[in-house]
Amino acid sequence: MNLLAIETSCDETAAAVVAETGAADRPWQIRSNIVASQVAIHREWGGVVPELASRQHVRDICGVYEAALAEAAVTVDAIGAIAVTQGPGLVGSLLVGVAFAKALAWSRGIPVVPVHHLAGHIESLTLAHGELPLPAAVLVVSGGHTSLYFVDRPGHYQVIGRTRDDAAGEAYDKVAKLLGLGYPGGPAIDRVARAGNDRAFAFPAARLTHADRNAPRPTADGILPADIARRIDFSFSGLKTAVLRLVRERTGSPADARAVKAAASDDAGSMLPPPEVADIAASFQRIVVEALLDRTFEAAGWLGARSIGIAGGVSANSRLRAEAEARGVKHGIPVFIPPIALSTDNAAMIGAAGLRRLRTLGAGNLDFNAEASLRLE
Ligand code: KG4
Ligand code: ZN
Repeated sequence: MNLLAIETSCDETAAAVVAETGAADRPWQIRSNIVASQVAIHREWGGVVPELASRQHVRDICGVYEAALAEAAVTVDAIGAIAVTQGPGLVGSLLVGVAFAKALAWSRGIPVVPVHHLAGHIESLTLAHGELPLPAAVLVVSGGHTSLYFVDRPGHYQVIGRTRDDAAGEAYDKVAKLLGLGYPGGPAIDRVARAGNDRAFAFPAARLTHADRNAPRPTADGILPADIARRIDFSFSGLKTAVLRLVRERTGSPADARAVKAAASDDAGSMLPPPEVADIAASFQRIVVEALLDRTFEAAGWLGARSIGIAGGVSANSRLRAEAEARGVKHGIPVFIPPIALSTDNAAMIGAAGLRRLRTLGAGNLDFNAEASLRLE
């Protein structure tokens, strides 16, 4: 069966056709995967403007849908089901995809499957590499989320760690802005960090403060021992503030708490010489990658995971990819990361998660709506 997938949770309008292969170990195949990026529109504003995003989705959705059918060389008659991102994301953006998918499904008399965006990122791994050896520890690192999942059987995702403040991608985007590197920040930091010295600045480790570590309800209570569960959560706001203070110091701006807040929308770092920007980017990135991988590998060890998956936009990061693979070899555990085109937001991954859900839970009905803060557990 061919499934049409629609993704409009943030600033990419995406549609894909994903087919079932009939093979148990490699269940899905991409027939087309179209993304219309709005980056050029939002770059001017230094970040995603929700109202502009939803309006652009309305303009692009029909063309993207038609392009997905054309690239797959099928007509709509060959589509047996539709999957769509229900949330989380920007509600105005989500609504465009959900309304489109429901209307098309209703008019064609075919099922529509609501999909959680992070289930899509997780299933991008199976889409790219075939079924993972289970149980697996899967790290999802994107602009809005940094969460670690335990997958003990296909389609069953249990959260065992998450960020207490910023997502990793958000930290990349904010630090890039501060350094005058523009939007989106992840790829820009990745690029300039290559020329930098990653030990030039000793930023604090991206971990919870003592008070947070003693928070009453660890995320992974019951799956991991409580003291381990507390260590698995992420925190990036302290690191971001440390970068901000350093930039202020170097550019001669005041480093008091009010300035810290104000400069979140500042780009004081653009006044620094490029080699220094590269050193800051590299030093920041070293800490982020260490924090992500330390926790993922620690949790995988505790859980007896047979594989590790890393997905989401930040998994496109070259340092994260290289270090994850090196650590996998060292620890004797296979590490799976999707190719770049499936790391950042796309509809093929939503198609994969849609087929997973269709075959495990069956199709839903048309009653669902877009949900900005939908949870996956
Ligand atoms: O998964 P994604 O495309 O969208 C969300 O679901 O949020 O992730 C986008 C995030 C952005 O924060 C972007 O800066 C980050 O992924 N990103 C990267 C890289 N490419 C994208 N971060 C670090 N290095 C990269 N190469
Ligand atoms: Zn995403």
